[in-house]
Amino acid sequence: MQKPPVFVTRRIPTSALERLSKEVNIDLWEEEIPPPKGVLIQRSQGKKGLLALLTDPIDAEVIESCKTTVKVISQMAVGYDNIDVNAASRAGIPVGNTPGVLTDATADFTWALLLAIGRRVVEADKQVRDGIWKPWGPEILLGAEINGSTLGIVGFGRIGQAVARRAAGFGMQIHYYDLSRYPEAEKDTNATYLEFDELLQTSDFITLHASLTDKTYHLFDREAFKKMKKGIYLINASRGAIIDPQALVWALQNGIVAGAALDVFEPEPIPGNHVLLGMDNVIITPHIASASVQTRLKMAMMAVDNLLAGIKGINLPYCVNPQVYDGK
Ligand code: DGY
Repeated sequence: MQKPPVFVTRRIPTSALERLSKEVNIDLWEEEIPPPKGVLIQRSQGKKGLLALLTDPIDAEVIESCKTTVKVISQMAVGYDNIDVNAASRAGIPVGNTPGVLTDATADFTWALLLAIGRRVVEADKQVRDGIWKPWGPEILLGAEINGSTLGIVGFGRIGQAVARRAAGFGMQIHYYDLSRYPEAEKDTNATYLEFDELLQTSDFITLHASLTDKTYHLFDREAFKKMKKGIYLINASRGAIIDPQALVWALQNGIVAGAALDVFEPEPIPGNHVLLGMDNVIITPHIASASVQTRLKMAMMAVDNLLAGIKGINLPYCVNPQVYDGK
């Protein structure tokens, strides 16, 4: 019997691909840059499943074009704002994601960014590489005191909570804002819920862990920055578009934000001539918060689990639109 054909939109860890290839016929997009939308549409034709990444615009048009054959869209990421889930649900197609397995890697990396921006690690390293090693001096490369400062976490799901657990070790006071309250996690992490404006007014460090939705798009606009304490540090390892980039530039230029560490940006990649790239108090990394060998393998394996389940007509183990199963 012929194996069902699937489109895999980028090379994923080899053992995951090998596992997949035992059960399906893989059409693999081999390039490092994501397939353009036209290619997505073309290569999805006649396929039974798609294994996609967060860089693939799986919008209503793509879904409409392949809905007669595609039985599952499996995203190798926890976030899925690149997929029009409503369109998939209308077409009866389950969408899978990879929650849980990247929580710790992402929280660890958030801390790498927080410590690096607060204590000017990248800037100091750059100075040394540029041949500037000023002798030890009482006021050289002074940064922020982490211990005893206040951390504001926006988005208190799995990753936000994991960041909070780590903050305890640094003796920080923890505040969070979310659309939901998490009483258990509040107890576990000693975090206090605050309204958004209050969190902006009281935090020394603010870190973002929310999903990108209509409600969070440009949540950090100029009005939000105006409410902050002067001299805060901002960390973003969630989705770039939660911050209005122009408002951030304004806040940095006006000393409201003393430093920003961004693993995500709107757009990605950041344009090479962007003004932020010339600022010493900004760290920008290319969306790598979950990029540990172990975590990426787990994500790939979960995406394979979802893809294979969908093709076999079994409920996806990790499904973001389980309502597609209602009445089946
Ligand atoms: C996700 O999974 O949504 C992250 O942004 C990438 O790991």
